Amino acid sequence: MSLEVSQKITIEKTKNSKIDQVDFNNLPFGQVYTDHMLICEFENGKWELPKIIPYQNLHLDPSAKIFHYGQSVFEGMKAYKDENNDVFLFRPIENQKRMNISAKRLAMPELPESYFMEGLETLLLLDKDWIPTTPNSSLYIRPFMFASGNGFHASPSDKYTFIIACSPSGPYFGGELKVLIEQKYSRSANGGVGYAKAGGNYAGQFYPTNLAIEKGYQQVIWTDDTSHEFIEEAGAMNIFVRINDTLVTAPTSDRILDGITRKSIIDIARDQGISVEIRRISVNELVEASENGSLKEMFGAGTAAVISPIDGFGFGDKDYILPKLEETYATKLKKQITDIQYNRSEDKFGWRQLVK
Ligand code: PLP
Ligand code: COI
Repeated sequence: MSLEVSQKITIEKTKNSKIDQVDFNNLPFGQVYTDHMLICEFENGKWELPKIIPYQNLHLDPSAKIFHYGQSVFEGMKAYKDENNDVFLFRPIENQKRMNISAKRLAMPELPESYFMEGLETLLLLDKDWIPTTPNSSLYIRPFMFASGNGFHASPSDKYTFIIACSPSGPYFGGELKVLIEQKYSRSANGGVGYAKAGGNYAGQFYPTNLAIEKGYQQVIWTDDTSHEFIEEAGAMNIFVRINDTLVTAPTSDRILDGITRKSIIDIARDQGISVEIRRISVNELVEASENGSLKEMFGAGTAAVISPIDGFGFGDKDYILPKLEETYATKLKKQITDIQYNRSEDKFGWRQLVK
């Protein structure tokens, strides 16, 4: 770490650690929070130095613009511990850059790289004991920024708050994953904010997702907003389809989040000699492939979801069930990416970053 920012971060330690109350063998996803959080305010046109303080409630005026106009962006990352208790991040610069891409789209100020990275590393070292070592667990990291300035005028805020909160977490999904291909609602549109990790993108998905849940599915697969003929991504993950032995995933666009897991999987798969095509996938192609037996696998990829195999998809009134294979790309690729993340294998791509 440089001496620039990390030396200047003030740290107020908690007097009442909650760590003894946590059952690390039964961690839910994102519901238990560590002892500390990082907070950084933007005011008078500049970012103040980050502070680490005990995890606590926020005080906001009812007129704070986040409540009215939704200026809010976030990231999702994980910290992993290896058997020597060393702590690692996975491609963290990609999250830092993406948060600024999101912020720019929502007319919010960009946060300097050193504030994000050094702030995060300082926080992780302080709350290191919270990083779980139980299988399939990690410390989920949620950096987020929102409009904390006041006023009902529909214009960008003059104040923003950046926070990093962390949660020791188990798997995001439990049990079977059946998805519904959406034909009416859209998650995003050309020229919109779909490529940003903006809070509002998720709010807009909840109602159609609830309708899908009522029909017995767990997630929606979004299709393009104009024709609804091409599959794009799911609520919290990019989608991969295996047709015969080729992996196919949709190209990123204005409408799709440029997932870090997605691009890592593409590189790992190609490195393993698996053919990967980045191209549009029509619902017709998917249905035909399911009917003629060439559709072997579908899975979602994301930081929270890691690689989550999809058991079946619904389209219209029909359900299509994926075959149960002995050896899947999903299992193989999940092992490879998590072995890099948890420092169990060589990292030929240079993605793993030791926190020190
Ligand atoms: N797509 C959406 C809408 C997401 O929310 C996420 C999760 O972050 C992803 C894709 C996967 O992105 P990443 O692999 O960077 O976590
Ligand atoms: C992540 O995968 O980290 C995400 O941000 C998805 C989130 C909606 C749980």
